[in-house]
Amino acid sequence: MITIKSFDDLRKMRTSNRIAANVLEAVARAVAPNVTTGELDAYGDELIRAQGARSAFRGYRGYPGTICVSINEEVVHGIPGQRKIAFGDLVSIDVGVISEGFVGDNARTVLVGVCEPERQRLAAVGREALQRAIDAARSGNRVSDISHAIESTAVAAGFQPVRDFVGHGIGRNMHEDPQIPNVGAPGHGARLRAGMTLAIEPMINMGGWKVKTERDGWTVRTRDRLPSVHYEHTVAVTADGPAEILSLAGTP
Ligand code: MF3
Ligand code: CO
Repeated sequence: MITIKSFDDLRKMRTSNRIAANVLEAVARAVAPNVTTGELDAYGDELIRAQGARSAFRGYRGYPGTICVSINEEVVHGIPGQRKIAFGDLVSIDVGVISEGFVGDNARTVLVGVCEPERQRLAAVGREALQRAIDAARSGNRVSDISHAIESTAVAAGFQPVRDFVGHGIGRNMHEDPQIPNVGAPGHGARLRAGMTLAIEPMINMGGWKVKTERDGWTVRTRDRLPSVHYEHTVAVTADGPAEILSLAGTP
């Protein structure tokens, strides 16, 4: 697990995550009915290059896309292609970049036009789960305090977090220790310390928590085919007070 020790490394983590956030924001704004997921991927590719970074996903274990685009019952790792986005869809976009040797990772679900009320509620609960999880990412707390914040928020709303995929430490590599499950009782796992950089990523299903990977080897969908949302920020744990959210869009 990485613990940022030098100010220069922190600067690089801020930069890679700001780039990832800028790309995510721009791609999210390009989401509209009849746009294909492949077009979003091409746009993401252009934006990543324009900021002097490269995709952290392309080629990772053979992943063929630049970004991930997952629609409705697709949870994560949707491979961009010919599929057209439709009015009312929930479109989850995940962007990971590498810049100066450090990884930035963030994701969000975009609501296309006006979604059904239950889909809107699911998205709101997903955002709240991430917010509460970040609030739990404080020095002295433990990893599962983050997990518990996510699970309790989702379950209180009648939804289920995905269990088969987790958040993670992040730094020079996209996936570092610790794993950060989206469910769990509080008070377990590694103690959080200032300088730890974490990608916190609740995936919340409207129905059951069970998921299945499609035959393409990547796309993860819900077993019951009910929709799912995904929100992810990369944060740095601080000495005291709340974590610093690194994956916020801004001017370099
Ligand atoms: N944000 C995801 C993660 O942290 C993205 C991985 S997609 C992959 O696991 F294609 F790179 F696998
Ligand atoms: Co991630």
